Amino acid sequence: MSMPDFDMVLFGGTGDLARRKLLPALFDAHRAGLLHPGARILATGSHALTTEDYLASLQDSMSWCIEKGTPEAWSSFLARILYVQADAREPAHFDALAQQVLSRAPEVVVCYLATAPHLFVPICEQLARTGLNHPNVRIVLEKPLGHDLESSEAINASVARFFAEDQIYRIDHYLGKESVQNLMAIRFGNALFEPLWRREWVQDVQITISEELGVEKRGDFYDRTGALRDMVQNHLLQLLCMVAMEPPSSLSEDAIRDEKIKILKALKPITPQDVADKTVRGQYRAGAVGGKAVPGYLEEEGIAPDSRTETFVAIKAEIANWRWAGVPFYLRTGKRMQSRVAEIVIHFRDVPHAIFPRPLAQSPQNRLVIRLQPEESIRLHFLVKQPGDTVALTTTSLDLDFANSFKVRRAGAYERLLLDVIRGRLGLFVRRDEQAQAWRWVEPILDTWAESAAPPKAYTAGTWGPAASTALLSRDDALWHEEV
Ligand code: BG6
Repeated sequence: MSMPDFDMVLFGGTGDLARRKLLPALFDAHRAGLLHPGARILATGSHALTTEDYLASLQDSMSWCIEKGTPEAWSSFLARILYVQADAREPAHFDALAQQVLSRAPEVVVCYLATAPHLFVPICEQLARTGLNHPNVRIVLEKPLGHDLESSEAINASVARFFAEDQIYRIDHYLGKESVQNLMAIRFGNALFEPLWRREWVQDVQITISEELGVEKRGDFYDRTGALRDMVQNHLLQLLCMVAMEPPSSLSEDAIRDEKIKILKALKPITPQDVADKTVRGQYRAGAVGGKAVPGYLEEEGIAPDSRTETFVAIKAEIANWRWAGVPFYLRTGKRMQSRVAEIVIHFRDVPHAIFPRPLAQSPQNRLVIRLQPEESIRLHFLVKQPGDTVALTTTSLDLDFANSFKVRRAGAYERLLLDVIRGRLGLFVRRDEQAQAWRWVEPILDTWAESAAPPKAYTAGTWGPAASTALLSRDDALWHEEV
């Protein structure tokens, strides 16, 4: 399918996300020749800037990414970009913006809302008032969409006044990662795993997203948000759905999303009484990451000195259906952890009757490790005979290292998702009901933590989180997979 001609209006064009992720992703697509020659990017912000000023500011803030291409590629990319002032309180700005877009009439108009969520509704109102909500307009909503179920539903309901659901692309960039789609290919493109992908053969599932970074320059936002809202409500629950969903009847967007919502609905509620047993919240203290001393969370810029915001979460989730009853899904995420890893680990049960001497190891020997980060790989661990005059077994693994196995350019998550919006593919975006259901599940945890007198458990920066996270699993005789 060839790429349609488009205008992409980037609200929040001067912001961090635009500079760190969106424009670099579009630059990558541009360099790969994937953008229509006529396509334009209209970056907007509330300040009066000329396009020249704006482009000059990109030169500084995007130098790391400019170096990836030739000077010609960068200048032809810049030639696509215009700066347009668009303050949501100024109708005249939106009249001018609409005029810019409607007069050219590209096949597709993408309005990307990379702004604070309180601006989503005023921006949508202005877009609708100026005719920028016609059926060829697609709107992309960045997370966080709201702060809880009520506020997220309020935004969704308001946006729905102006845009049909099939025009709305709620982005979760984890769904754009290649390994996540490979997980679907592995599960539903091969007969091998599906018979084992169930409670009879799976002992537990672990999903970890650990980061070395702290809160960086987003202290103020992060302190109001915390890890449960920032990572669990969206990325971790979406990954859990990808692992646990039933085979969809086709690759169509609603076939996949219908299966994901069934899993979200089947998640066992974590009641206030369960919170102490099934969840751990932590907050980092000063320590060292990658050999460098780093301050504690409470010393970071923009953080209240008595903040109780969690920078680490571990949860034991369970899915109440026939396939997964009784199988723990351990979820974990944190800032300032020992290393940057995002992975899904499926631990398979041991053989029912062992005839070989077993290697001494506490973790299950058969495990499938799907790595999303730092490198993308899939590794199947199993037992083989130790070479030589012995019947003892040892562990080995079958490795699929994507970078080495497939020497082709692979799009990053944002690039892939932006191209999907331009092509009108909704499958990797979150439907409104999924989002609401994910909020419904996390809310009792948030509420119970908010009411609890106990502060988050401290952990030293550069470790794998508080000791309580290890204890959460050891109560089930399990261990976190920590092979870096
Ligand atoms: C974002 C969170 O959604 O994901 C950030 O808001 C987090 O806090 C980021 O750092 C992690 O994404 P990635 O792709 O770098 O793992």
